[in-house]
Amino acid sequence: MNYDILNINLAEEGRRRIEWADHDMQVLRLIRERFDKEKPLAGKRMSACLHITAETANLARTLKAGGADLVLCASNPLSTQDDVTAALVKEYGIPVFAIKGEDNETYYKHIHTAIQHRPQVTMDDGADLVSNIHFDYPDIAKSVLGSMEETTTGVIRLRAMERDGALKFPVIAVNDALTKNLFDNRYGTGQSTVDGIIRATDILLAGKIVVVAGYGWCGRGFASRCKGMGANVIVCEINPIRASEAAMDGFMVMKMSEAASIGDLFCTLTGNINVIRAEHFEQMKDGAIIANSGHFNVEIDIPTLKKMSKDVHKEVRRFVDQYIMPDGRRINLLAEGRLINLSAAEGHPASVMDMSFATQALTTEYVIKNADSLQPKVYNVPADIEDVVSRLKLEAMGITIDQLTQEQIKYLTSWDLGTV
Ligand SMILES: NC(=O)c1ccc[n+]([C@@H]2O[C@H](COP(=O)([O-])OP(=O)(O)OC[C@H]3O[C@@H](n4cnc5c(N)ncnc54)[C@H](O)[C@@H]3O)[C@@H](O)[C@H]2O)c1
Repeated sequence: MNYDILNINLAEEGRRRIEWADHDMQVLRLIRERFDKEKPLAGKRMSACLHITAETANLARTLKAGGADLVLCASNPLSTQDDVTAALVKEYGIPVFAIKGEDNETYYKHIHTAIQHRPQVTMDDGADLVSNIHFDYPDIAKSVLGSMEETTTGVIRLRAMERDGALKFPVIAVNDALTKNLFDNRYGTGQSTVDGIIRATDILLAGKIVVVAGYGWCGRGFASRCKGMGANVIVCEINPIRASEAAMDGFMVMKMSEAASIGDLFCTLTGNINVIRAEHFEQMKDGAIIANSGHFNVEIDIPTLKKMSKDVHKEVRRFVDQYIMPDGRRINLLAEGRLINLSAAEGHPASVMDMSFATQALTTEYVIKNADSLQPKVYNVPADIEDVVSRLKLEAMGITIDQLTQEQIKYLTSWDLGTV
């Protein structure tokens, strides 16, 4: 088997972490058991470009159990867990092309290797795989039945391709499923971003002024967790509805140019570019900490930060680079501006990835079953998949909910009942 990973001898530790995560992924486990019997993905070549974590390994095991001929590459050069890649190769027989900290050239070489597997189904986190197939492999694009996209930034790119008539095969926006973004983006990113920042810096959040850029699903999860830990949280937004929500959720809302001189810790979660830039670095306090948890490392204008600094102290702590401004102020950049939760911590907890990856697995099955009727468009996850995943998750949590009575069904579907 062909693969490119750091060290195969890490497999035993990786396997233990994968099994630990599996305890909290009951829904995915149930799907894996069914896939193992029914083989709905039998013989299909699949390439998946994902953050390679213990949770992803359980998704990969599920796809393989379903019969897929799967290879994996990383969707970010820093998020790979090297013990997990070793276990995937050695214990589960799944080829992986990913090494934590790989340079850009290796990162793209690995993506190209995954494409050369000639996938019929792809899975992406940020649309790197799909866009590289479109740019460089028109022949392979013709035989792709469909793709699944895991994150907001990827869906934005794919919708732009659809709008411009450039999309060559169907894509399912798994990110937009409620079983994904309400839970993974909000609770997963919320908690793991705090985790990454604390592991990188060991700061006390209580009493700090935390500036959160973006009050989408990720931003609100992070903001509420910081508030819960005693921080004073400022939200910066460009969308008036989301800014109003933040204000009524009890956060201070202001422009980044006003927050820049006040904040102790800044975190971007917008999916946008240069949200923190020169005019903001100029005002920041000595010792300010800046981090990003949005998909790409472009939310903080790092090239300008480098140009503005008279010196850089690399790795004053693991994952912390200190930029020294001409007036002596120190600005601490975490994880080179890459997703802090996946760089300095372990990404989302398994329990929340259970829902996202159960949705991914069932959507893969759906794409293969319905390949003939799908067009080169961006589709939402079918509602019945969302229903199955949320019901199974409740069951796994030991929660039962009420059911509509016949009278209530009639009331909710009539227009002539209930006013008196
Ligand atoms: N760290 C992770 O593990 C993780 C997990 C899921 C998603 N993501 C990524 O996080 C980012 C945000 O995802 P989301 O689901 O919250 O998206 P979202 O679209 O729900 O929210 C983004 C918010 O940012 C705001 N925004 C855009 N430009 C801004 C600017 N210049 N200043 C302030 N606010 C601005 C938007 O108005 C929006 O409210 C995306 O890049 C997504 O891919 C990361």
